[in-house]
Amino acid sequence: VLSPDEAERAVLLAAPRGYCAGVDRAVVTVEKALDLYGSPVYVRKQIVHNKHVVADLESRGAVFVEELQEVPAGATVVFSAHGVSPEVHRQAEERDLKTIDATCPLVTKVHHEAKRFAADDYDILLIGHEGHEEVEGTAGEAPDHIQLVQSPADVPGIVVRDPARVAWLSQTTLSVDETLETVAAIRERFPLLLDPPSDDICYATQNRQLAVKEISPEADLVIVVGSANSSNSVRLVEVALEAGAKASYRIDDVSELDDAWLDGVRTVSVTSGASVPETLVDGVLAHLSERGYPDARAVHSAEESLIFSLPKELRRDLKAAG
Ligand code: F3S
Repeated sequence: VLSPDEAERAVLLAAPRGYCAGVDRAVVTVEKALDLYGSPVYVRKQIVHNKHVVADLESRGAVFVEELQEVPAGATVVFSAHGVSPEVHRQAEERDLKTIDATCPLVTKVHHEAKRFAADDYDILLIGHEGHEEVEGTAGEAPDHIQLVQSPADVPGIVVRDPARVAWLSQTTLSVDETLETVAAIRERFPLLLDPPSDDICYATQNRQLAVKEISPEADLVIVVGSANSSNSVRLVEVALEAGAKASYRIDDVSELDDAWLDGVRTVSVTSGASVPETLVDGVLAHLSERGYPDARAVHSAEESLIFSLPKELRRDLKAAG
């Protein structure tokens, strides 16, 4: 395939992309904990779903574990941005661990909604992906009341105690459009379905999907930077394709970019998931420039200014340390 003339080429860059407020807070939490308490600081699960972030923190003394049994009694452990179930808090107490909870406040909000619906004795349909840590944490708030719904195909099989007392909640990082379809299917079966008091799919997920929709219709290729286990990153590939991109691939970093994808490609669009450091996007843009593509043009579709304060346990210790 002949390469398009350089004059015909364009690179579009989604804005916003990359770090959300919850990821930024979680990563800074581990960095500050390392500064304050020294290494090792244990972290239950990947602090955010990005392998570069995890490797970087590991090199600075963070120790990532799957479960609390791997943490020595009395040590300090950080809970990841995706949240944990009450059972994990209980285990931490039992093992006398010092905990710092870096759960994103927007995930905590969904936990509160789950507790409230359960206290009102509703059957709760949690829309999300089986096995995702966030879903495990949220479902753990009310295991007797919550059942997982992954797609409209699951809806006919739902069994509830009282069709008049059903509510839905969702994972924060789903596809907005797909979730609306699932909710519509649920509502058709249960017309009295109760909505969450506010959007569960978070602002960052919504904005990144909006932004990728802007840069997809004219793109021959949409590159999404993000890790394979990052739900919001994987969704961006799907949304790009639905919005008209001719092709879209997710890569962890530029080393996974296959130059064959660029054959005959005029417009390349680039975005990144909510857990992706900007340096990884810079690496992709530098590579495109080496291949004769022009500087990227940012396409703005939303402004973001949200910042979350650090977990209170950490703020208290930082203050005490002066
Ligand atoms: Fe929180 Fe949404 Fe980021 S739930 S961690 S702001 S992707």
